[in-house]
Amino acid sequence: MKAIRRIKYGGPEVLKVESVSKPIPKNDELLIRVHCTTVNRTDCSMLTGKPYIIRAFIGIFNPKQKVLGTDFAGQIEAVGENVKSFAIGDRVWGFQDDGLSSQAEYMTVSENKAVIKIPEGFSYQEVVACAEGAHYANNFINKVNINANDRVLINGATGAIGSAAVQLIKHSGATVTAITNTKNITLVKSLGADRVIDYQKEDFTKDLERYNFILDTVGKSSFFKCKHLLSSDGTYISSELGPYIQNVYLPLITKIYGGKRVKFPLPFDCKKSLLLVSQLLSQGKFKPVIDKIYNPEQVKKAYQYVASGQKTGNVILSFT
Ligand SMILES: NC(=O)c1ccc[n+]([C@@H]2O[C@H](COP(=O)([O-])OP(=O)(O)OC[C@H]3O[C@@H](n4cnc5c(N)ncnc54)[C@H](OP(=O)(O)O)[C@@H]3O)[C@@H](O)[C@H]2O)c1
Repeated sequence: MKAIRRIKYGGPEVLKVESVSKPIPKNDELLIRVHCTTVNRTDCSMLTGKPYIIRAFIGIFNPKQKVLGTDFAGQIEAVGENVKSFAIGDRVWGFQDDGLSSQAEYMTVSENKAVIKIPEGFSYQEVVACAEGAHYANNFINKVNINANDRVLINGATGAIGSAAVQLIKHSGATVTAITNTKNITLVKSLGADRVIDYQKEDFTKDLERYNFILDTVGKSSFFKCKHLLSSDGTYISSELGPYIQNVYLPLITKIYGGKRVKFPLPFDCKKSLLLVSQLLSQGKFKPVIDKIYNPEQVKKAYQYVASGQKTGNVILSFT
């Protein structure tokens, strides 16, 4: 089978499309014919091994996982003898932030991991675009209590995390102000944003509104640049470590002093996020945002584009 492999850390140039043997499922595993996966910012970190701290988990000098890929949508081709919840032919999707080696024509995954059936009426591409960003967005939101009276500002509202965050937060009834560039104003309004600030024309840190929550989903700002925009008990959350890795220690310091707080969301429970989004998809309350679709031979281009930090929503790698 075809798989995208790398044997060392580096940029997209270390990736190669290679022929490798098809994996064999263990007793609790599913063998999945991968129809598509995404190339996302988590994959980019795993490719480069940066920030270096992640190498403590994924391999100090060389990567333990030679095949990248954190999410997938595909069809079950075989099951291990103890598998109870799935059958051959089931259409499934899943996500695991420490890697699934899903950038290949086939992969295996335990039925006990974050893998679920695809809701009726959705394509492989549609569901795979609702995994990685939605999981992190859900893990921003489940660290705080957002309700209908709150005002929320989302920086990077059209990235994978941001586009999911706008939609998930709108379900709480809160008022969402989205920061985006000119080309994505219509998109972000269609996702539910109440107000849009075009960062190419206006500096959002000069806004006169005060917010209960500021979510910097792309790590392009900082607590100190946004602090004056927060209400007296407001919370700032970022997806990035921030200057001098401040988002790691500011949560502790701001907790001690009280008032305006910083939270750094450590993500957990991928399956819960998938189940939530699957339910919302079925109810017509969540839209996948798909930017570009690449084939395996174009994988280097796909990684270059995603690493540029300019994608809109999700970039798909299609194996069929
Ligand atoms: N903490 C974690 O566990 C974790 C996990 C995954 C990812 N991350 C990090 O989370 C961040 C976001 O990931 P993602 O996949 O959502 O990112 P992404 O999809 O690559 O974000 C791209 C978006 O960023 C926006 N953007 C670029 N420059 C901007 C600026 N100066 N101001 C405002 N928006 C800007 C762009 O919006 P426009 O098109 O409107 O310009 C584009 O839509 C990344 O930095 C990633 O490393 C953290």
